[in-house]
Amino acid sequence: MRFPALLALVATTTVSFGAEDGAQVYNTLCVACHGPDGKGLNGLPPLVGSDWPKGPAERTIKIVLHGMTGPVEVAGKAYNIVMPPQGAVLSDEKIAAALTYVRKNFAGNAGAVTPELVKSVRAATATRTTPWTAEELLKDHPFPPPKTALRNLVGTMYKGEWKEMPDFSKLKPAQIEDENTGIISPAQASLKDAFAMVWTAQFQAPEDGKYTFAFDCDDYGALYVNGERVAEIKGIGPVGDRRKEVSVLLKKGAVPFRLEYVEFAGQEVIILGYKGPKDKDYKWLSDTKLGGAAKAASKRAPIPVEAKDGYTASYRNFIGGTTSRAIGFGFPNATNLTYSADNCAVELLWTGKFMDGAQHWVDRGQGNAPPAGDGVVKVSDGMVVAGPAAPSGAIVSYQVNKDGGKGTSFKVAGEGFTLTDAWTPADMRGSAGLARKIVAAGDKPVTIVLSRGLAVQANAGAFEVGPRLVVRAISGVAPAAAGSDLVLMLKPGESAVLGYSFR
Ligand code: HEC
Repeated sequence: MRFPALLALVATTTVSFGAEDGAQVYNTLCVACHGPDGKGLNGLPPLVGSDWPKGPAERTIKIVLHGMTGPVEVAGKAYNIVMPPQGAVLSDEKIAAALTYVRKNFAGNAGAVTPELVKSVRAATATRTTPWTAEELLKDHPFPPPKTALRNLVGTMYKGEWKEMPDFSKLKPAQIEDENTGIISPAQASLKDAFAMVWTAQFQAPEDGKYTFAFDCDDYGALYVNGERVAEIKGIGPVGDRRKEVSVLLKKGAVPFRLEYVEFAGQEVIILGYKGPKDKDYKWLSDTKLGGAAKAASKRAPIPVEAKDGYTASYRNFIGGTTSRAIGFGFPNATNLTYSADNCAVELLWTGKFMDGAQHWVDRGQGNAPPAGDGVVKVSDGMVVAGPAAPSGAIVSYQVNKDGGKGTSFKVAGEGFTLTDAWTPADMRGSAGLARKIVAAGDKPVTIVLSRGLAVQANAGAFEVGPRLVVRAISGVAPAAAGSDLVLMLKPGESAVLGYSFR
């Protein structure tokens, strides 16, 4: 007689398992508040887009067993209502079925929930009599760290006092830490003052295209993307106002990333964000975000500055990625450059749009305006002339050529030499480019740095510099790669004609 009874028991158990149709339980017990589509009803929080039902199922089991109360953020919105407890009236099977349904349909296919797990959570929290708060739940079951574009972020801290960027290769790290959050914060140094930090990571570029980085910090910082120093902050003034916005072209995939930072005294702040080819707003890689200043900047209507009627356009204001005493020229064939009077060097070269005047011509006109075009390459970041003959106290002049404004030339005078450096828009094998003629005079030879710190690859008589620039020897003395520099050595009276174009 016991046998059929046992069978019956097995049968009912089996039936009740199968019959705990998650959809049905959800649509009876949860639907009134969270809605048939999980999007929330009558101002009650959604499950779709929420992090709460994802991850470890214990968190949501607790919510259903004992309810939830107090302030909570769900899918970016704040709520402060009460969800009633349902543990007393719901079997483990019913809760498991409802949560399996919720996780599968509203929580990005998070895993199924078993009645055994519900049973063990119920037992472990048997003494609980009040609803959970968000804080309590997150303490025991935290959300996974948000994923940013920075993978394998490692922060290395150095102790000491520097008033400028030290040579980190010569320093001994005081602390090395994985920053799994993918977020950069000076707090990761665990020191208040007198330290420096270097963060390295792979920046994950989701697609090919132009990425704009916004960077500011207190006290000093340098940002390297793809091995190139793209922005540097040295300075005083309210953080945010002196930010650099720089654009770089990246290929889809993992791109080397490095941020150097020195904290001398006072507040420690780093602001770093980026905009990918399809992003309207900045995504933040730092714990501090840029406030009003950046928002105002993104709202300004662009004021294009560009070459017109065959005339070259110029921009004499702070240009992102170069020094404060720099001038920009935009040529009629959509090739552009900046010349730094501090370094007697052409520093930035790019194609497409020249500049957007909105940042400087609207409101208070602060900060550095980045080049408006594409393929911005920073060819050098220092004196154009290397070696002992460097032009200390050099006199620099520039001249926009008269023949329709189709070019510009720069003059550098140092001890024992003068250089004339003339740039003219020209066709370079079918694409828009620039012809550059450099003439040396005087009685000392000079070594001119054409590019510094960029990958230089010789390719069929031309040099590929960085990701997009091509420098060709057209006539006269040819340039030569020297380590990570591309240099041109001219004796008095010698000259070189070079061709610049973009790949
Ligand atoms: C009477 C309305 C009501 C019912 C019924 C209800 N909830 Fe809730 N639920 C809420 C409220 C209100 C909150 C937010 C509580 C707060 O503000 O702290 C919430 C929060 C949650 C959360 C965490 C926040 C979120 O939206 O992701 C989950 C998960 C959740 N409920 C799941 C369920 C499940 C599963 C059921 C059915 C078994 C259910 N709820 C039934 C009202 C309800």
